[in-house]
Amino acid sequence: MAIQKIFVVGAGLMGSGIAQTAITNGYDVILNDQRQEALDRAKVGIQRALNRDVEKGRMTQEACEEAMSRLSFDTTMESAREAQLVIEAIYENLEAKQAVFSALEEICPPETIFASNTSSISLTALGAATKRPSRVVGMHFFSPVPKMRLCEVIFGLLTDQAVLDEIKEVGERLGKTLILSDDKPGFIVNRALLPMLNEACVIVGSFIGTVEDVDNGMKLGCNHPMGPLELADMVGLDILLNVMMVMDKEYGAKYHPSMLLRKMVTAGFLGRKSGAGFYLYEDGKKMGVNPALTREHHLCEE
Ligand SMILES: NC(=O)c1ccc[n+]([C@@H]2O[C@H](COP(=O)([O-])OP(=O)(O)OC[C@H]3O[C@@H](n4cnc5c(N)ncnc54)[C@H](O)[C@@H]3O)[C@@H](O)[C@H]2O)c1
Repeated sequence: MAIQKIFVVGAGLMGSGIAQTAITNGYDVILNDQRQEALDRAKVGIQRALNRDVEKGRMTQEACEEAMSRLSFDTTMESAREAQLVIEAIYENLEAKQAVFSALEEICPPETIFASNTSSISLTALGAATKRPSRVVGMHFFSPVPKMRLCEVIFGLLTDQAVLDEIKEVGERLGKTLILSDDKPGFIVNRALLPMLNEACVIVGSFIGTVEDVDNGMKLGCNHPMGPLELADMVGLDILLNVMMVMDKEYGAKYHPSMLLRKMVTAGFLGRKSGAGFYLYEDGKKMGVNPALTREHHLCEE
């Protein structure tokens, strides 16, 4: 089955990045969100990103217009019947994702592949919500999707090899390097990365080192391009906490989320997207350490 049209569910950070990457690599995309304002914001964001590519000489004006002409929007799921591949990128919640897949089950032909961009939820559990578990697969992109070169492909217990082959082709056409993971929480990258980000929170929360010293330590001492706390802010502290909770439940204490991380999410410090996390942000620019983290009596750990 040749894949030409992709239905992307969820027009947030990841869904709009996936849509942008797909239209600039020749796919037709229908971007879906239950909120019209999310679709409006995604359209403006994608257009702005492509305009920047034109200004910087990375893309011609003609290619930009052609890519935008391949993008359409739908607040209902009806047009999913036209797509050969669905990529779901709504928020990280098993029941909500299962509800999307069971609604799509009624609309899409049986051969349509259902992929999820989940960071932590079992693909086998998502497949179980459908009558096509052999055609359910994980496509875990990284943020920002147009720039990050990796796509982790996750196979559920029942995923067909033929589906993995088709997804490999799509991933490569999107310019990504694919790595293959079994369906275990955290897959490959988050299983290795998240304990490090969480431990960086513990270090700050137990007064061992400051936010800047932790980040400088990992950048200058380990050659990481970003500090773990800068990266945590970029991922979103709520997303990090959610995935840590899933892994904690599955694997136990080693993945227990840091107390400071939990407090920050409760306080509404979600990272870049909320304007404050370990650092403060203005118009997406990092301004300095969040002053709440310099008051020692508010730190707490463990
Ligand atoms: N943020 C990251 O760095 C990152 C990286 C890899 C994977 N992920 C995963 O990608 C998924 C999306 O994350 P995000 O950061 O883009 O979230 P987000 O909050 O930015 O966007 C989610 C969007 O989904 C929409 N939505 C919610 N329920 C819906 C429904 N039933 N139907 C249609 N639209 C719906 C919301 O209106 C919102 O616009 C999550 O599963 C997350 O774990 C996130």
